[in-house]
Amino acid sequence: MPDDGLLTLVTQEYAVSRHYTPSDLVPLEEYIPADILLGYPIELRRVAAEPLRELINAMHAAELSPTVISGYRSYAAQAIAWKKWVGLEPERVAIISAQPGHSEHQLGTTVDFGSPELEEIVGQPDIEFHTYFYKTGEGVWLAEHAHEFGFVQSYPREALELTGFYYEPWHYRYVGVDLAAELHEAGITLTELLLERHGAPCIP
Ligand code: DAL
Ligand code: ZN
Repeated sequence: MPDDGLLTLVTQEYAVSRHYTPSDLVPLEEYIPADILLGYPIELRRVAAEPLRELINAMHAAELSPTVISGYRSYAAQAIAWKKWVGLEPERVAIISAQPGHSEHQLGTTVDFGSPELEEIVGQPDIEFHTYFYKTGEGVWLAEHAHEFGFVQSYPREALELTGFYYEPWHYRYVGVDLAAELHEAGITLTELLLERHGAPCIP
């Protein structure tokens, strides 16, 4: 059961209790216009919601049009998401979707962004997630600037062996501005840093 700190290690080996719900979840619609949330009732921890608002404002100032597709997901919601991906991509599900208890989305500090450019770049209407997010204006800006607002990419390109998950250029976790700057400068993920501190999991 994690506390409400920002540095809980969540990987395919390290799980969060099914009973963990962050104590300070807020409806994102109180922070961000509903059209950016595509009408979904998305929640996030209060500690990350204000920085997200500032990040979105900065993106608007840069004439970008990000959407927020996902935020907090309960253990039960992650179980549903995982089952969906088992059906859609049975061969790859282990590297694209976390089993319940193993998703950073349960922490309430993680956001999936979308871009209006993605459909055209991928050539597929209604596409929500695709690796080509990194080619969109929103993806490029986030990769360069998200750390200035305390957000870091959890699953960067070619980090599968370290993180356990395929490249997700849309998935950002709030860790605070100071640590985000350190991770960005060092070019490492939060998972790498925390695994160094914790050591390997003890699997009998
Ligand atoms: N797609 C990421 C790994 C998740 O399910 O949390
Ligand atoms: Zn995500």
